[in-house]
Amino acid sequence: MAKKISGVKGMEDLFDSEEVQKWLKVEQTARRVFKPAGFQEIRTPILEESDLFERSVGETTEIVEKEMYTLLDRNDKRLAMRPEGTAPIVRAFVEHFTSHNVQEARFLYMGPMFRYERPQKGRLRQFHQIGAEVFGSDHPLLDAEMISLVHRLFTELGLESFQLQLNSLGSRDDREKYRATLAKFLDGIKDRLCEECQRRIVRNPLRALDCKKPGCIEATANAPLLPDSLAPESAEHFAVVQAGLKSQGVEFSLNPRLVRGLDYYEKTVFEFTSGELGAQNAVAGGGRYNDLVQELGGPAVPAIGFALGMERLVSILPEEAGKSSGAPRVYLLGLDPQSEQWLFGQLRELRAIGAVVELDFGGVSLKSKMRRADRWKAEWVVLLGEEERKRGVAILRDMQNQSQEEVPMSELFMRLTSRLPTMHFLKM
Ligand code: HAM
Repeated sequence: MAKKISGVKGMEDLFDSEEVQKWLKVEQTARRVFKPAGFQEIRTPILEESDLFERSVGETTEIVEKEMYTLLDRNDKRLAMRPEGTAPIVRAFVEHFTSHNVQEARFLYMGPMFRYERPQKGRLRQFHQIGAEVFGSDHPLLDAEMISLVHRLFTELGLESFQLQLNSLGSRDDREKYRATLAKFLDGIKDRLCEECQRRIVRNPLRALDCKKPGCIEATANAPLLPDSLAPESAEHFAVVQAGLKSQGVEFSLNPRLVRGLDYYEKTVFEFTSGELGAQNAVAGGGRYNDLVQELGGPAVPAIGFALGMERLVSILPEEAGKSSGAPRVYLLGLDPQSEQWLFGQLRELRAIGAVVELDFGGVSLKSKMRRADRWKAEWVVLLGEEERKRGVAILRDMQNQSQEEVPMSELFMRLTSRLPTMHFLKM
């Protein structure tokens, strides 16, 4: 036998039918929640120029420094498989919308992202995100709206235990000043920090605040915190966001150490976490990025967005989310070529009732065909052989009650419809 080829480490096949059902449910619910709020769906390519992520996510971030899948194409152009969705959406917005003077837009997107991380539970190299981005306003109530929509999505999906953490990184100015203050503080306790955080002092001091190593957590316990150094305008913005969330009944806690792993954020940042997820507990995250559109060559258009991790979300959904539509299953058995031909002609109409209908292509004897119907979990079997055909009837068998009756071939559609639950269109 030829050697088997395995899938790539950290990249998963999705095939379990309950799992697939959960994915569909999340995608449908996301559309149902976001579309009425004015979001249009957008799809961008998996490959982008590497520069796009270096200039947005940030050259000193772990994502760009260590985790990007990059390649040279045949023309030596540096490309990257997108590690996240925001930068490509901004690129597309600048390319297709701002050229027509559009300064406002709302996008919803779904698709695979790639990060060369060490695979573990909830951490993959190919994972999937659903995200949304809003361009055109710096209004703090928009931040509250964005976060409330994510909250609604999770509630509609029946998610039971999740927490929302909120922080403000202030304006770019606030952040630059704070960066210097923090770097000075970290320098003073340098010996107590892990190697990674020592390097961060110069490159990305804010990330030292959410280092998970116990030594670093202890050493930075008294670090100056960002919310204490916000300018009045940023503090006011943050206060309105919080009031907006409270008015929507969205519970949150403030986490002054929440800094996020991407460089483009300012002002509001947030993360939804779940205790059921283990170490990789963030199920969604996002925030405001008011300068990014301009930094990527567009006009000065403020923006905010979020993305959720599909695999993580699906792993904590309630079981019911994996239940399939319950559409009735009908198996058609033809015992000779003409009967098969006739049944073949019925497939389209029967499927239009909303039933799941298959024509048997396998067994030879009636016995083996019936075994296949059982394996397929048929609720109804339609049997047709030469003898029945001559009399113009087919046998309709109820597999649950083990009863059967003869129905005129010309009435098969009607009879079956009357026995199936009313117009059972496939539900998601
Ligand atoms: P992020 O926090 O890097 O943000 O990713 C969002 C979510 O994707 C995470 O909360 C997590 O659930 C999931 N995720 C990230 N990495 C992995 C991985 N290796 N394996 C499995 N799941 C993962 C962003 O990507 C931003 N673009 C979000 C955003 C949109 N900010 C503004 N707009």
